[in-house]
Amino acid sequence: MSQTLFLLPGDGIGTEIMAEVEKLIAFLNAEGLTDFETDAGLVGGSAYDAHGAAISDADMEKALAADAVIFGAVGGPKWDGVPYDVRPEAGLLRLRKDLALFANLRPAICYPALADASSLKREIVEGLDLLVVRELTGGVYFGEPKEITDLGNGQKRAVDTQVYESYEIDRICRVAFDLAGTRGKKVHSADKKNVMKSGVLWDEIAHQVAKDYPGIAFEHILADNAAMQLVRNPKQFDVIVTDNLFGDVLSDAAAMLTGSLGMLPSASLGAPDPETGKRKALYEPVHGSAPDIAGQGKANPIAMIASFAMALRYSFEMVELADRVEKAIADVLEDGLRTPDIMQDGAKAVGTTEMGDAIIAKLKG
Ligand code: IPM
Ligand code: MG
Repeated sequence: MSQTLFLLPGDGIGTEIMAEVEKLIAFLNAEGLTDFETDAGLVGGSAYDAHGAAISDADMEKALAADAVIFGAVGGPKWDGVPYDVRPEAGLLRLRKDLALFANLRPAICYPALADASSLKREIVEGLDLLVVRELTGGVYFGEPKEITDLGNGQKRAVDTQVYESYEIDRICRVAFDLAGTRGKKVHSADKKNVMKSGVLWDEIAHQVAKDYPGIAFEHILADNAAMQLVRNPKQFDVIVTDNLFGDVLSDAAAMLTGSLGMLPSASLGAPDPETGKRKALYEPVHGSAPDIAGQGKANPIAMIASFAMALRYSFEMVELADRVEKAIADVLEDGLRTPDIMQDGAKAVGTTEMGDAIIAKLKG
């Protein structure tokens, strides 16, 4: 039976990098390696232009019904003035919330060929392989109240609400510990328990969960210290579990260790269905829509293609094929192919489509 992928390229470079994934899907289907059926929809500014919403209800239905959603990027200056509720990012946040994608996996791997492309010294990043596990459906992103009120005296007051219930912390910590068991067997839990009640509860629950995983080393770390340690000595980390906002910030920092934000994929997963065991899932690059380079064929498609590889791994149990796609990425980098964001002296400059083609060519070889 074929499996369904719902493609949401979004805005800016989203459409260009998604085209490379579509080529890859067509290739894998033609080779008989996969049997994917794809459908595409609109999200972000492109959905706003078409429907006046950041994602239409019809596309939400398709996202809910698909075996996996593959997402590009949203946003751009064109939509800076649109009402807050329908701003491009609202489409992504609705997908995360309505699909209940609470677990966001953001692996930062430094490909050997790119160790010199990082803004940090080679010895700091070479061999880096860490995973940020970010809580994705709670915290300050969704807490109520969330508003700006006019105080009537020429002043305004803005409120965002950071809120976590223990079950939300428990389930994301379990994801982190389970994954640590398949990798370096170490979890750091990052919060601000020194100033936030939500941090106190986060740490309490994280310690409780840790007791169920005696084979995994566990350490608490303050989120600000985690940011500092990420640029000081990132290889001390295996899995970092943290809340929605700290996870957003720390994963951008982790991404840059790998050479470029254009390299980092992510998977957003729901809880397994009690009957079928299947999880709802969305796969997206960590980078944004890069409006400054959109339409120029310069965007790095690697984070997008690596996100698709994560879909093979986590939604379709095609672990071997996921390994092959990731190896193909490593191989083209080894060959010296570089999009502008990771360009180095002596390397071969390529654009988006050439990079995508080269990755597919490696899979043929
Ligand atoms: C990310 C992005 C999003 C976030 C934006 C686009 C809403 O920065 O996925 O990291 O803040 O979660
Ligand atoms: Mg972010």
